[in-house]
Amino acid sequence: MPVPPTSGRLQWTDVPTPLRARLEDALGAPVTDTVTPKGGFGHQLAAALRLADGRRVFVKAAPDDDPLTAANVHEAAVLDALPPGAPAPDLLGIHRAADWTAVVIAHLDGPHPDLSPASSDAEQTWALLDKLTSSPAPAPYAAAVSTMPSTAAALHGWDELLPDPPADLAPTARAHLLELAELEAAWPAPAHGDRIVHGDLRADNMVHDHDRGVTFVDWAHATTGPACIDAASLAPQLILAGHTPADIARLLRDHPATASSPDTTTAFLAALTGHWHRNARKPAPPGAPGLRAYQHRAAVAGLALLSHRLSWLDRLTEPLPAAP
Ligand SMILES: Nc1ncnc2c1ncn2[C@@H]1O[C@H](COP(=O)(O)OP(=O)(O)O)[C@@H](O)[C@H]1O
Ligand SMILES: [Mg+2]
Repeated sequence: MPVPPTSGRLQWTDVPTPLRARLEDALGAPVTDTVTPKGGFGHQLAAALRLADGRRVFVKAAPDDDPLTAANVHEAAVLDALPPGAPAPDLLGIHRAADWTAVVIAHLDGPHPDLSPASSDAEQTWALLDKLTSSPAPAPYAAAVSTMPSTAAALHGWDELLPDPPADLAPTARAHLLELAELEAAWPAPAHGDRIVHGDLRADNMVHDHDRGVTFVDWAHATTGPACIDAASLAPQLILAGHTPADIARLLRDHPATASSPDTTTAFLAALTGHWHRNARKPAPPGAPGLRAYQHRAAVAGLALLSHRLSWLDRLTEPLPAAP
């Protein structure tokens, strides 16, 4: 699976001295080494800290006037409220000093999962999603996410491309633009539900921990919603990792999280793919190199999947994107 490049992230030495001192005090040992993992698009500090006694912890930190601090604090509340056995690391603490906030999370040891057909990681991820969505979210989790509007529910894009379709719009999208906009328009109504939704499931938001297996990280977009959201989000990622759209369309048809809600799943996929097609064309935001290129590739994969679900006859007109 191609993992997007590391962005211009803040480093441990960018963190104000009082907060670094507060963290070392709380952790009970000085920090001797830091590693910034590859992957993700955020610009906040997101680093593994090695302590003098050999332990490792994972820390995310940003200034309080940076919107990523609110996202990090939301993630901390979610990690604290997820039910036992959820595929997530434990929250270890939140620390504030010098108008910065740091969230300390248990360190996971391993690479991003390999979502290609050659690995069993994809299968493991589907199984985790089945387990995660098979029953309603527990009350503490629902309370933790209730203060944040669902970003998944707000996804759209075709509506903005419809009035003046860009010249480089894929022929399949152009041919079905009105239908795509209609499918997407059906998304907000079923977007709310009672299941745990990670909300940003990609290989770079998972770690294949040597002991725990595949574990989801970066719960900053977590919410509640219908069971299909994470499985349908994962589907285009698997196509980008080398699975065929036909195989993934079959998997979605049969997976417990999506099988019983085909229309909701299609509406969500249309909204997500529209979001990618629209946003890929916007100027790159500062501090997130690689984001637009990723969205271009994801847009093609999402459209290929929708074409299979909807049995569009011209479904193979666009070649799938090669890994960068
Ligand atoms: N608990 C953890 N242990 C080890 N590595 C992690 C942990 N959480 C995240 N990572 C790694 O750090 C990267 C960035 O963290 P993430 O939470 O995804 O931040 P961002 O919001 O900036 O994408 C991830 O892509 C993953 O490689
Ligand atoms: Mg991330």
